[in-house]
Amino acid sequence: MKVLVAFGTRPEALKCFPVIQELRKCEGADVKVCVTAQHRDMLDQVLRPLGLKPDYDLDLMRLSPSLSDITSDVLNGVGEVLDKEQPDRVLVQGDTTTTMATAMAAYYRRIPVGHVEAGLRSGDIYSPWPEEVNRKMVGVIADQHFAPTEQARENLLKENVPESQIHVTGNTVIDALNQIKDQVNALESGHPAVRQVVDAIGRTNNRLILVTSHRRENWGQGIEQICTALRRLADRGDVHIAYPVHPNPNVKIPVQEFLGDHPSISLLQPLDYLPFVALMTRAHLILTDSGGVQEEAPALGKPVLVLRDTTERPEGIASGNARLVGVDAVTIVTEAERLLDDERAHRKMSRARNPYGDGKAAQRITRHVLNGSYAD
Ligand code: UD1
Ligand code: UDP
Repeated sequence: MKVLVAFGTRPEALKCFPVIQELRKCEGADVKVCVTAQHRDMLDQVLRPLGLKPDYDLDLMRLSPSLSDITSDVLNGVGEVLDKEQPDRVLVQGDTTTTMATAMAAYYRRIPVGHVEAGLRSGDIYSPWPEEVNRKMVGVIADQHFAPTEQARENLLKENVPESQIHVTGNTVIDALNQIKDQVNALESGHPAVRQVVDAIGRTNNRLILVTSHRRENWGQGIEQICTALRRLADRGDVHIAYPVHPNPNVKIPVQEFLGDHPSISLLQPLDYLPFVALMTRAHLILTDSGGVQEEAPALGKPVLVLRDTTERPEGIASGNARLVGVDAVTIVTEAERLLDDERAHRKMSRARNPYGDGKAAQRITRHVLNGSYAD
């Protein structure tokens, strides 16, 4: 069976890798990997340490593309690869424009699609934008839906996806995290950015606030509010903030402008996965609008304040590890200070849990893909 796995951005690469690894162990699988490189640098940051060499690299990243640009580039680029390879199945992951346009390209050729991380829904088509609709569109096309959680399965059933096509597998990000979790201690002293942050938090009683942000719906006012909140928190003098900044100019430019000069804030380049996990492990608190980070933090027992008004990942909130705080500066500061100043509140959110999987998602997905059967 020929399976083509296609992805384009950092989180897709991290979450597809465990599946590629499992598929490659199976004799019956001829696995082809196609990257769109919707992200160039951040994709390579994942591929290089893993030694993963794609069969096709479409190198599609542009400096300021519109969503239509990305969609049409991927649709045409992946389409040509599908015409050449004619796989029996295409696998896509998540909710990016690469994911959606790849599924469309496969559909136009009547090639069945398996969707890894299917069924997440925020219920608002503009938050996350355009990811909510991207994911729904893939859901309409796919005939194998690998739902990470029971909640995701329920969402798909409500949309009349046949029960026999849905498999609850866990999220492959937990597989990826488990693979490297034990290596983080060994790395700390050797990595310059991590060393810099570890030294800085040594001066603030080990209170590190780790921040990431990139959501399109937060561009502009949202980012400004987040930065205002971060400055106020940094002004306390008893925390250090580490912020690996997303290279999107809509994020990088304002963040540099608002926060670049604060001595208690380290603005970092995007980190390789291992050093990033090292910082998550060190963090007292994580502030993020990222999807993946919302999934990893509960597994590491780290409190997360989610810088969004909605989330398609309610499981972390239900497990008590995450809180939705939106992007109002005053609310962000109040919620963060509650966790900085109230030890009990912090402890309550710091119990390690695994609402997103047990680290065996890729094995389950591989079994379903190769069996081609819809029964569990
Ligand atoms: C994309 C996805 C989003 C996902 C996020 C993960 C879409 C529409 N958005 O958002 O769903 O959550 O990735 O990070 O699919 N850039 C670089 N180097 C890189 C990556 C990006 O310079 O390695 C810059 C480029 O100017 C690029 C821009 O960032 O054009 C934006 O990249 P894009 O893929 O359009 O959107 P993201 O905001 O990264
Ligand atoms: N991540 C990383 N380096 C960083 C920031 C994040 O490796 O500097 C990882 C993080 O652990 C998570 C993934 O990237 O697995 C999340 O990517 P992102 O926030 O860009 O996308 P999203 O998950 O929101 O789609």
